[in-house]
Amino acid sequence: LGLSVYDNGYLNTAVCRSSISYIDGDKGILRYRGYNIEDLAMHSSFLEVSYLLIFGDLPTADQLNMWTTRIMRHTFIHENMIDYLRSFRYDAHPMGMVTSALAAMSTFHPEANTALQGEHIYQNENMVNKQIFRCLGKVPTLAACAYRHRIGRAYNSPSNEFGYTENFLYMLDRLSENNYVPNPRLSRALDIIFILHADHELNCSTAAMRQMTSTGVDPFICLTGAASALYGPSHGGANEAALKMLEEIGSVDHIPAFIEEVKAKKRRLMGFGHRVYKSYDPRAKILKQIADEVFEIMGRNNLIDVAIELERIALSDEYFIKRNLYPNVDFYSGIIYKAMGFPTDFFPVLFCIARTAGWLAHWHEQLQNPIPIFRPKQAYEGEEPRNYVPIDERV
Ligand code: CMC
Repeated sequence: LGLSVYDNGYLNTAVCRSSISYIDGDKGILRYRGYNIEDLAMHSSFLEVSYLLIFGDLPTADQLNMWTTRIMRHTFIHENMIDYLRSFRYDAHPMGMVTSALAAMSTFHPEANTALQGEHIYQNENMVNKQIFRCLGKVPTLAACAYRHRIGRAYNSPSNEFGYTENFLYMLDRLSENNYVPNPRLSRALDIIFILHADHELNCSTAAMRQMTSTGVDPFICLTGAASALYGPSHGGANEAALKMLEEIGSVDHIPAFIEEVKAKKRRLMGFGHRVYKSYDPRAKILKQIADEVFEIMGRNNLIDVAIELERIALSDEYFIKRNLYPNVDFYSGIIYKAMGFPTDFFPVLFCIARTAGWLAHWHEQLQNPIPIFRPKQAYEGEEPRNYVPIDERV
């Protein structure tokens, strides 16, 4: 490796300078652009937080108004995109549909495609902003189409009478004839969940976003790479895996046997542990409170009892204490999504809608402070040079 350092999985390598989010993993602190996540969750909205992440400051009332209008104008998707989504198998995983649709978006917007137009188009601020409006506007619509596909119902068009998250719920639930209005308390709860998931510094999918950005490819393809990384069960797929685990445990009596399996390393306690947080994930604390609000509206399910008891037992067990394993954002989000009526395989899609804001913030930051194309070193451990053996002489 010469002068290079071997760093398996980039555990100790900083690859960019960023001013977007700050984490203190030991103290359980998360801030976006200097604002504590608790304050943003209590007082802000997902779209306002998206503006903050991307442009660095909270918007004025006029800026927020303009920002919201621009994004909501981009919620519609092309009819051919709808045909494309309809062509998926009836039981296609919605995350597969959304990642494919993100890649397809690159073909729908050739004027934004750097392969055709050249990277210089992103020196133009209007061009950059337009892609941000497009991506934030269209991702919930793609997600809603994937959901409707999964349940075998016609797709709904967006309605710009509603706010961002409300419109998303409207597209999911509206039945053909009635004047459906999503429950405002549920919309607010989901909006807060989106705020909590919007950014988390250089997690695996954001690193993928930055890596793709370094190639100069367009933002839709960058988002495809980021969303694909998010899909993995150790990352954004963990909320789905955590809920399946809670369902499998089924009741509090089965927890001790399950914990023994975890300690014997036969399996992992999904929704627990974090690369950065070595104390309680601040997002999980807020989610625990949102769970109560959602249960009040939708009714309580027994999985929350399993989760609370599982957390209690794990946090008092030497195995978890020694390794600093605490609940992460995915431990409670799955239970809330389930109570809201989302199918389990839709959970990573919800994460993807929210994280699109963070991915775009990193894309925007990297356009201003370009990074040379990512090309990490490897430590070669393979064969020494050897001679080619013809197939009839191989044993
Ligand atoms: N259950 C049981 N043991 C665990 C767990 C877990 N969830 N997480 C880590 N450990 C153990 C691990 O076996 C190891 O033990 P030992 O020192 O005896 O070998 C020790 O703790 C350190 O584990 P690690 O794998 O080196 O830790 P990491 O920082 O590389 O992994 C993680 C972080 C999130 C991949 C891991 O904790 C994990 O797999 N958790 C479950 C999946 C999950 O909830 N992921 C969501 C992460 S938060 C949202 C997101 O980023 O998308």
